[in-house]
Amino acid sequence: MTTGDFPSAFPGANWMDEAEQNAVLDVMKNRAPFRFYGPNEPKYALALEATARKFYGRKFALAVNSGTGALQSAMIALGIGPGDEVIVPAFFWVASVGTIVHANAIPVLCEINESFTLDPTDLERKITSRTRLIIAIHMCGAPCDMEAIMAVADARGVDVMEDCAQCNGGSFKGKKVGTFGRVGMFSLQLNKNATSGEGGLLITDDEKLYWKMNAAHDLGVPWRGAEPDSQPADYLWGTGRRMSELCAAVANVQVEKLPTIVEHMRASNRRLQEAVKDSPGVTLRKLNDPAGDTGPFLVVMLKDADAALTAADKMKAAGLTDLWRMADYGLHCYFNVPQLVNKTPLSPAGNPWSLPQNAESVCDYNKGACPQTDDLLDRSVVISVPSKLTGEQEQFMIDKIRGALS
Ligand SMILES: Cc1ncc(COP(=O)(O)O)c(C=O)c1O
Repeated sequence: MTTGDFPSAFPGANWMDEAEQNAVLDVMKNRAPFRFYGPNEPKYALALEATARKFYGRKFALAVNSGTGALQSAMIALGIGPGDEVIVPAFFWVASVGTIVHANAIPVLCEINESFTLDPTDLERKITSRTRLIIAIHMCGAPCDMEAIMAVADARGVDVMEDCAQCNGGSFKGKKVGTFGRVGMFSLQLNKNATSGEGGLLITDDEKLYWKMNAAHDLGVPWRGAEPDSQPADYLWGTGRRMSELCAAVANVQVEKLPTIVEHMRASNRRLQEAVKDSPGVTLRKLNDPAGDTGPFLVVMLKDADAALTAADKMKAAGLTDLWRMADYGLHCYFNVPQLVNKTPLSPAGNPWSLPQNAESVCDYNKGACPQTDDLLDRSVVISVPSKLTGEQEQFMIDKIRGALS
C-alpha cells in the first residue's frame, strides 16, 4: 500500500457528491451560466456571496474567478502602487508575491517563526515609512497569530490583508480567519479545503472597499444588480475576473460543507500529531491556535537539513507520497522563485524594481535574506493529511512516519 491509494490530498474534492452535481445541472437546465444576466435569472454567485457573508460573518462578500484574482482585485482597490512596500512572509505561495509585483509595488520579506507563518517580531522590524500593506498568509492550513499581527499593524497604521487560501474554515481564538484584517481573501482552487476547481472570495466590512473591489474584479465599474454602475467618479481599470455560475454553484455547496471537511481533517491531523510528537529529535510545528487549525498538513521539524532530507526520503521509500522537505517545496519558498530572486521585470522598462519611486526599498530575495526562515525550511518536512482518511489509513501513515523518524 502507498498513500497514493488513499483519498487524494485535494480536501474539498473528496467530499463532492450529488449536492454539487445537482447544483451544476440546475445551472445548465436553467441555461444561466453567467452571473450577472442571461436568458433566465442567474442565482448561484449571489447565493455564494450570501453564504459567505453568513459563514465568515462579514458585511460584504465578492465571488471572483481565483485566489489570484481576489488578491489582485483587493490590491487595486486598496490603491497599492509605486513607492509602496507590501510585507509578505518569506514562506508563501507565489501568487501572493506576484500580485504585489503586478501593482508595481515592492514585496518585502518577513521571517516566519515555528508556526510557519509571519513572525510578529520581525514584522515590526520590517515596517518602514513606505509600508502600505501586510499580507498575513495562514500557511499550510493553520492561522497566523492575528492578535500580535493586528497589534503591530494598528500601532503603525498599516492595512492588513489576510490570505486565507490555505486555511479556509480556520480560526484564531474563536474568530474566523479572514475577519481580522481590512480584507480577507480565499481560493477555491482544487488543492483547497473547499473547491470549485477554480474560484476565489473576498470578504470585508468596508463598504467603500467592497465597491472598489467589485469594480476592480471585472469592468472597472461596479456591478449593481444586472447593470454596471453609472457613477464615473468610481471608475477604475478592471481585470475581468468574474466567477461563473458553474463554479459558484459548486462553491456554494462546498462552503456549506466546510465545517465537516475541516473537522474530519483536523481530527486525523490531531491523531497523527499525538502519535509522532515523541519521536526522537522531532518537534511539531507550533500552532498559534490548535482549535483553529484546519488540518491539511502535518509539519515536523528536525535537528538539521540532513535529518530532514533523510526523514523525507525514508517516508517516501515507505510509501508516503505527498510530502516534501520544506526547502524543496517549490514556489512556496522565496529562494525557489526565480522571477523574484532575479527581480524579473514586469515590462522592458524594468518595473517595479527600477522605478524611482521604489529606489529606497531594500529588496534582496536570495537565500540568506531571511536566515530564520531558511533554517526552518531546511530542517522541516511537510506531509499532506488527506481529508477523508479511514482509521486503517491513518494507522498506515502513523506507522510509516514514526518508522522514518525513529
Ligand atoms: C497562499 C495562497 N495564496 C494565493 C493562492 C492563489 O489562489 P489561486 O490558485 O486560486 O489563484 C494560493 C493557491 O494556491 C495560495 O496557496
